[in-house]
Amino acid sequence: MPQRYLIDPAQAQDLYLPLMAELVSVKALTPQETLYEIALPGGRDLGHRPGQFVKVSLFGVGEAPFSVSSSPTKRGSFELGIRTVGMLTEVMQRMGPGEKVGIRGPFGNGFDTGALRGKDLLIIAGGIGLVPLRSLINFVIDNRDDFGRLIICYGNRSDAELLFAEERAAWERDPSIEYHVTVDRGSSQWRGRTGVITTLLPGLKLDVDRTAACICGPPVMFRYVLLALRAKGMPEKGIFLSLERRMKCGVGKCGHCQINNTFVCTEGPVYNGLELKSLQEAL
Ligand SMILES: Cc1cc2nc3c(=O)[nH]c(=O)nc-3n(C[C@H](O)[C@H](O)[C@H](O)COP(=O)(O)OP(=O)(O)OC[C@H]3O[C@@H](n4cnc5c(N)ncnc54)[C@H](O)[C@@H]3O)c2cc1C
Ligand code: FES
Repeated sequence: MPQRYLIDPAQAQDLYLPLMAELVSVKALTPQETLYEIALPGGRDLGHRPGQFVKVSLFGVGEAPFSVSSSPTKRGSFELGIRTVGMLTEVMQRMGPGEKVGIRGPFGNGFDTGALRGKDLLIIAGGIGLVPLRSLINFVIDNRDDFGRLIICYGNRSDAELLFAEERAAWERDPSIEYHVTVDRGSSQWRGRTGVITTLLPGLKLDVDRTAACICGPPVMFRYVLLALRAKGMPEKGIFLSLERRMKCGVGKCGHCQINNTFVCTEGPVYNGLELKSLQEAL
């Protein structure tokens, strides 16, 4: 009797075998978040889309998914922005340039940058949600003529937790970018806006039929952002939201990331507003 495999073993090796990559640089963004620049063997490109993720593994520690934070237009290495929260991230925060990490991926669908071309983009990033959206933002900046307005709304709990200070300062200076930022609670030094991220939305003048809203942040934010966008008349098909789910395999085999009949690791993490209607429990 011929031997039957659930999946082609050659493909299985590609899916499950990490490439041994090297940390190029490790920079603290805040006391909790670190930016890691990583090079694959031979400096080959990761070949990702904005919004896709990789699985990072450390021997003897474990493996976890992280969104790619750099744009595909950055060649020779890629970046991950990681919050230290547990086992793997604590060990990783103590690592330095030259040390090795395992990388599988890129996985997931990411944002369809081809379909977004020509559109006005409204980026809505809550907290660490700026990490994956930074990939899309920098992709748009590097292909500026292919897109309409670039409107960035960023909210965080406090000014001390705001990420990517230099890049945000550049967005503020760039006349082709409309950048808005708010914090829930500002320190005595904070001179900007205070309030939750949805307070940025009512004042925006949008051509809703040519706007794509790309959203990533904590789940508590989703419901209110979606309500605010619908109140502005945004059609569901113009809304793209990146979901986060606990993952194991990352490649549609184990079911850990399942919501109803979708596997977030393969059919997500980016879903449009029409798809989200059947994923209410995720919001
Ligand atoms: C698609 C995707 C993209 C992501 N992108 C990023 C990113 O760009 N940056 C980033 O910082 N993070 C990202 N994450 C989250 C990241 O994968 C997790 O924070 C990961 O668990 C960290 O691994 P760890 O071993 O350090 O933490 P863990 O040891 O896994 O602990 C993480 C937290 O989860 C809790 N926890 C652990 N196990 C469970 C469980 N079974 N059930 C409930 N809670 C549990 C822990 O108490 C702790 O608070 C992403 C997740 C997904 C799914
Ligand atoms: S993480 Fe295994 S199926 Fe999605």
